[in-house]
Amino acid sequence: MDIATVDQIIDKHQSEAGSLIQVLLDIQSQNNWLPKEALTRVSERLKVPMSRIRHITTFYKTFSLVPKGRHEVHVCMGTACHVRGAERVLDTVKEVTGVGPGETDPELNFSVETVNCLGCCALGPVMVVDGEYHGNVETAETAEVLKQCTCSGE
Ligand code: FES
Repeated sequence: MDIATVDQIIDKHQSEAGSLIQVLLDIQSQNNWLPKEALTRVSERLKVPMSRIRHITTFYKTFSLVPKGRHEVHVCMGTACHVRGAERVLDTVKEVTGVGPGETDPELNFSVETVNCLGCCALGPVMVVDGEYHGNVETAETAEVLKQCTCSGE
């Protein structure tokens, strides 16, 4: 992400320190993660100490300080999903994307995370791709959903 884009986002929020979280959310949304150079620019322009920015960006899980893929995959490994085949779902995710839990592929296509419970246990096993929930997923459906991500050219 170039500094001009960061400046545009800051300008959109009138360069107000009170808009810090919204500015960070916009950068995260456009870039999928928060590069150090972008945070330094935000700190300078909004006159907010880096220590405060670090506190916020490490507190909220929505922010990432490392590169993330264009597609975020969450596989629930909670008890209900586990007994219904979450391990198979995770294996298929790894097979199709080449990415394991906590990893992002070098082309920044996919980031994969496991979670403990998504609050919809009756639908298990559950996988969330780019915020869309997929319940009772079998191996074939898991692969199909992920292949649609790669085929859509996004
Ligand atoms: S255990 Fe997977 S949604 Fe609750």
